[in-house]
Amino acid sequence: MSHKKFNKNILCIGAGYVGGPTMAMIAAKCPQYNVTVADINSQKIMAWQTDNLPIYEPGLLEVVKKARGKNLFFSTDIEGNIKESDIIFVSVNTPTKTYGKGAGKTADLQFWEKTARDIVRVAESDKIIIEKSTLPVRTAEAMERILHGKNTGIHFDVISNPEFLAEGTAVSDLENPDRVLIGSRETERGRKAIREVVEIYANWVPRDRIITCDVWSAELSKLVANAFLAQRISSINSISALCERTEADIKKVAHAIGMDSRIGSKFLNASVGFGGSCFRKDILNLVYICEHYGLHEVAQYWENVVTINEYQEERFVQKMIHAMFNTIAQKRIALFGFAFKANTGDTRESPAIYVARKLVEERALVVITDPEALQNAEQDLKDVRQNIVFESDPFTAAQGAHAIAIMTEWDVYKTLDYKKIFEGMEKPAFLFDGRNILDHQEIYKIGFNVYPIGKPALTHF
Ligand code: UDX
Ligand code: UDX
Repeated sequence: MSHKKFNKNILCIGAGYVGGPTMAMIAAKCPQYNVTVADINSQKIMAWQTDNLPIYEPGLLEVVKKARGKNLFFSTDIEGNIKESDIIFVSVNTPTKTYGKGAGKTADLQFWEKTARDIVRVAESDKIIIEKSTLPVRTAEAMERILHGKNTGIHFDVISNPEFLAEGTAVSDLENPDRVLIGSRETERGRKAIREVVEIYANWVPRDRIITCDVWSAELSKLVANAFLAQRISSINSISALCERTEADIKKVAHAIGMDSRIGSKFLNASVGFGGSCFRKDILNLVYICEHYGLHEVAQYWENVVTINEYQEERFVQKMIHAMFNTIAQKRIALFGFAFKANTGDTRESPAIYVARKLVEERALVVITDPEALQNAEQDLKDVRQNIVFESDPFTAAQGAHAIAIMTEWDVYKTLDYKKIFEGMEKPAFLFDGRNILDHQEIYKIGFNVYPIGKPALTHF
């Protein structure tokens, strides 16, 4: 397939949470480019061509529809598309390694390397290769070696262009990013490649928000951005434990410190813990790199961000058990929400996975409800499936339950008729608000025993 009417052929390998939305935005904003998204997963590729996209992301379908069939295409033919392309984004997944050296910490780069080898094998012309996946620092260097290992005379420029979008707000993050970061080698060729990539984003992102630097700084900035964001959550969560033991209220503390413009008010919501595919993985990756360079104190500092997150999840479950008279065996407990955050169906590293498993271990009867994530929840918990009920309606989920635990801050859970829910529950009825989204005084007045995060409990006994 030749695309002569277009200035450039852009290919993205990996049609996941990052590759799909990013390419849809590029295609919608740049009609002069032909954009193809390729993936080894044919089911996913089929779904991208329907109105039932493989991921739930508000506003995404509209963006896809704007370009699909015009200059946005989805394909399983990775090799054919590599041949045709001028610019290749690589957005395959880079999960934490589960085996061998660095297991549990470093990134598993097997898909990345396989992709690089596919590119070398079939490429017939020079190409710009863009790292979109989050990778450990200095991966670009390894990639360059693989790409140039065959001495074919074809040249590849490796660029790091980390993606900072957050799930649930991917479309607005892509449309109006705080910044776009592009790193290259500091050579004449590298600078030329950077200009081509800047040109893509400049179609809709103001120039002063497009920043360029060397490859290593770009790669490291992505890990550090996620580490800093996660660190804020662990910081506020650690203080939430202290608030629960004193008369202080974490929301008031967060508000008071957030008004200091040096601290800032965002990302200070205490919660049952952070989830998502990135935070834990990227911090452990950073920890591994620091250890590699013998920076043990630095590694330990960042590892504590993960430790506090695990502590927060564990503390939540222990609080439930303790409040419910130290036994939850045979008690029906409804989990409201299973996604790692609102407005996504994604459940990767969701704290709800940990909580559900712990409750099952304690022999509770767990009922899970979520507007978008039930299918993924069933997948995550398939080994303990016989002890769990998956229910789309929150009222049915709470019927006959001893407790509700709010796991995800979905808007629908803020406005439910909790009086009606209370009436259908066993007494005493408990509500554990893992996201602090409810008016706790109101809920207490209905009759619930209420356990927020980072505030004293409100109990009737
Ligand atoms: C992305 C980044 O790639 C990851 O490094 C970052 O930390 C998080 O965001 P994401 O888009 O969320 O990952 O991953 P996923 O939704 O799993 O998408 C990856 C896609 O790549 C999958 O659809 C998978 O089928 C595809 N893939 C994987 C290939 O096409 N070829 C492979 O060899 C491996
Ligand atoms: C994150 C980064 O924000 C994004 O820039 C990067 O590209 C990928 O990783 P994401 O994981 O999609 O994005 O969502 P994010 O909004 O950062 O939330 C991560 C987790 O932190 C969620 O579980 C969320 O509920 C939790 N969180 C967030 C809190 O517990 N409190 C907060 O104040 C904010």
